[in-house]
Amino acid sequence: MEIVGGSFARRIAEYLKIRYIPLELRVFPDKEVCPRVVGEVGKETILALRMEVDPNNYLTKLLLTASTLRDSGAQKITCVVPYLIYARQDKVFKEGESYSLKYMLDSLYSAGVDEVITVNSHAQRWKREINISKCKVYNLNAMPVIAKAVDDFDFVMGPDAGTERWVKEIGEMNKVPYGHFSKVRDRETGDIEMSGESGLKGMDVLIVDDIISSGKTILKAVENVKKSGAEKIWVATVHGLFLGESLSDLESLCDGVFATNTLPHDAKEIDIIPLICGKIKS
Ligand code: R5P
Repeated sequence: MEIVGGSFARRIAEYLKIRYIPLELRVFPDKEVCPRVVGEVGKETILALRMEVDPNNYLTKLLLTASTLRDSGAQKITCVVPYLIYARQDKVFKEGESYSLKYMLDSLYSAGVDEVITVNSHAQRWKREINISKCKVYNLNAMPVIAKAVDDFDFVMGPDAGTERWVKEIGEMNKVPYGHFSKVRDRETGDIEMSGESGLKGMDVLIVDDIISSGKTILKAVENVKKSGAEKIWVATVHGLFLGESLSDLESLCDGVFATNTLPHDAKEIDIIPLICGKIKS
């Protein structure tokens, strides 16, 4: 077995002590991409890539590279997609919309990908396997890794009810109390209203979420935790998209901002490569 990709794949190869095949990437002036697999491919291959530019560019790279691996003789392709793109549209919300997650996985399957390993997918977030396509998805949970990496706090807070199980998990692991706010997001403006917990006076609080995208959710949670009298505030997430100025805004308000390396970012990094390697070895 060997692994194909960029620096993320190389780190997995070092961890697992398996052969690494570099993936060269040429970008034409009109932004078309042309990946090139620089090495001999075996029957069972892993393709590991992180999203760097945007989901559409990433999907194109995955599809072109997987097809190249298949045509080079790979009979089983496992794809490590640390941040599962198109997971927001995991069903048809409005008539006529695309069932994007399924179609994305079907496209990967057509390109030769048998299975995907991902981390804390937003879709079917409590399921460890997502079976909506012939391309099976293994959905790993990075919250225990976060709990170990950021261990000096005395309350865990989530910004909304969707974080209930994670704050419980982290709270129980670190033997501290936990809770979550209630959040309502205006679908048109994206503005957020948040209410709940107010007894955090003098506490060191960790706020956890699966994704920080625009940062609106987590910034509101930080504001509320501050208002309720917390002493120190840390923020941790699995997927740090940190769009716009959200990372610098958070850093100016908190004592530390952590995100796993499912995506490249400038916050404090928590390594999930051992978690991914555990799944590859199983
Ligand atoms: C919502 O269900 C998610 O867990 C996150 O809270 C949300 O996606 C974060 O988005 P943003 O950073 O844009 O508020």
